[in-house]
Amino acid sequence: MAFIDKHRILEKNATLLLVSSLVVVSIGGIVEIAPLFYLENTIEKVKGMRPYSPLELAGRNIYIREGCYVCHSQMIRPFRDEVERYGPYSLAAESMYDHPFQWGSKRTGPDLARVGGRYSNEWHVQHLIEPRSVVPESIMPSYAFLADAPLEYANIEMELKANIAVGVPYDEAMVTNAKADLEAQADPDADWSGIEERYPKAVLGDFDGDPTRLTEMDALVAYLQMLGTLVDFSSYDPTSGYR
Ligand code: HEC
Repeated sequence: MAFIDKHRILEKNATLLLVSSLVVVSIGGIVEIAPLFYLENTIEKVKGMRPYSPLELAGRNIYIREGCYVCHSQMIRPFRDEVERYGPYSLAAESMYDHPFQWGSKRTGPDLARVGGRYSNEWHVQHLIEPRSVVPESIMPSYAFLADAPLEYANIEMELKANIAVGVPYDEAMVTNAKADLEAQADPDADWSGIEERYPKAVLGDFDGDPTRLTEMDALVAYLQMLGTLVDFSSYDPTSGYR
């Protein structure tokens, strides 16, 4: 009976009840959340992850600007049907340089987390210009204007610096060469040694079909062709996961 009497004090005092509830909920929260910061497997390191090349970063900005994420996710869940359709499920480390991340919450179109290398550059350009010319039943809108829009990248150095401020490990050489690297990645005649060293596995060459122009199409396709290609999944085993 004494316990019920004491509880009545709580029930009759709204402020005390509120404060006590907060205390109880906080304890529960801390017990669940705090260990995540100390567990090795929530922050596992994955070989092959690197910051976006300047051209990929510019393409990613266009992806965000055009709202591609409204119809496309970039997160393959660890379920059999997803892995069979799209490939190895997404790892947290794969989006560690994403500010903001592009996981998405709706799939009107397919997941794009592993789309890199699945189609040719020509296919992407054709698909973005007129989706129904390659996928007759497609309901994706046309983005033909990207092929005529010159890429604006005067601020690309600042862009890298902004990413550094939120923890992306671009080094000094990456920042000073940002403009040159951006131009070189889409130029078939450029010297690629610097960019290959700074951004391993970057897809190099003309993307939009016109090597004389650097367009938003070039940047977007460079970004799409890189998605899901950085981590080496040859050590992936569908039953036991990543070894
Ligand atoms: C209104 C929804 C919608 C928007 C917005 C949209 N898409 Fe799509 N997308 C689709 C649908 C539906 C498909 C499947 C049919 C097809 O391949 O066209 C698709 C397919 C794709 C594919 C082929 C994927 C595969 O594995 O076959 C790519 C790549 C793609 N979209 C990129 C983009 C990009 C980049 C943007 C932004 C510039 C974008 N989409 C915006 C609906 C959308």
